[in-house]
Amino acid sequence: MKKIIDKLYNKQTLSRDEFIYLINNRNEEADEYLFKLARKRREEYYKKDVYIRGLIEYTNYCKNDCYYCGIRCSNKNADRYRLSKEDILLCAEEGYKLGFRTIVLQGGEDPCFTDEKMVDIISALRNLYPDCAITLSIGEKSYDSYKKYYDAGANRFLLRHETADEVHYGKLHPKNLSLENRKKCLYDLKDIGYQVGTGFMVGSPYQSAENLADDLLFIKELNPEMVGIGPFIAHKDTPFKDKKNGSFELTLFLLGIIRLMVPTVLLPSTTSLATIDKMGREKGILAGANVVMPNLSPMNVRKKYMLYDGKVSTGDEAAESLNHLKESMRKIGYEVVVDRGDNVRVSI
Ligand code: 5AD
Repeated sequence: MKKIIDKLYNKQTLSRDEFIYLINNRNEEADEYLFKLARKRREEYYKKDVYIRGLIEYTNYCKNDCYYCGIRCSNKNADRYRLSKEDILLCAEEGYKLGFRTIVLQGGEDPCFTDEKMVDIISALRNLYPDCAITLSIGEKSYDSYKKYYDAGANRFLLRHETADEVHYGKLHPKNLSLENRKKCLYDLKDIGYQVGTGFMVGSPYQSAENLADDLLFIKELNPEMVGIGPFIAHKDTPFKDKKNGSFELTLFLLGIIRLMVPTVLLPSTTSLATIDKMGREKGILAGANVVMPNLSPMNVRKKYMLYDGKVSTGDEAAESLNHLKESMRKIGYEVVVDRGDNVRVSI
């Protein structure tokens, strides 16, 4: 194990078989070894800084029906909401005052938010906060739509590929969605000039070690600025309600691997990680992550953006939860900074 981890550290890539070997043979000793190297690599580029992103979950309407997701259109128990432009601007204002310099608009694929509406919201944010990065996480759109949002002032886009295996993709999604289109979207976004984030769930139903190795190889090929991964967590109102949750330990292990494979990557310690372990956020950072995405959505809608059961939402106001986060990062030797937190590879 150590030999392969050393090779990854030095060469920043491995063969498919070597990735499979790592995944199938992970153990505590290998974890410690990997995480130490991952922290070392992370600190070469990002020191002990932790970047924060203000997440605004502006709609939980979604036209898609992904089998794993709590806001899939067939879930009649979901309590649907949309934020108005004014609500969104208020969230952003609060975030800015607290020191956030990246605003993330995340939502289901909600046709009510037409290109015109999105451009209006993005332009307003761009004018009000010229020093902030604007990140979109709003799903699959046409090249033209992505270009319009970019021209309006959006800089970054998060779109997890979910799984890089066609057959596995088909087991997680209904027929109208394809891996091919997902990949096309990611390459379109890159072509337009966005800083791009992709990623996958760890332990999603039917996932094999081979699938995970292919996810890693796809990430290597795409060479994104950001990668988001988190454990699959079952949601009670989905077809996957009885499926097993993903492994916390394997998620940490994969964070470490991704840090070594794409050394400058912006890598969040995700909410799903914090949901399955009460020290999840901290352990994610200690495995090589360098980003946290606190929730800026209004209190009354937070519980409604339920992608999976038990999704943590502190019940604290944004200010209070940010203080907790700062304190918890300080305790493990890291520091939340006021910064756009661009990838060091990107010159602005
Ligand atoms: N468990 C964990 N992650 C999930 N996501 C959606 N549903 C779940 C779930 N049940 C993730 C997907 C999506 C991101 C916004 O949330 O990977 O891309």
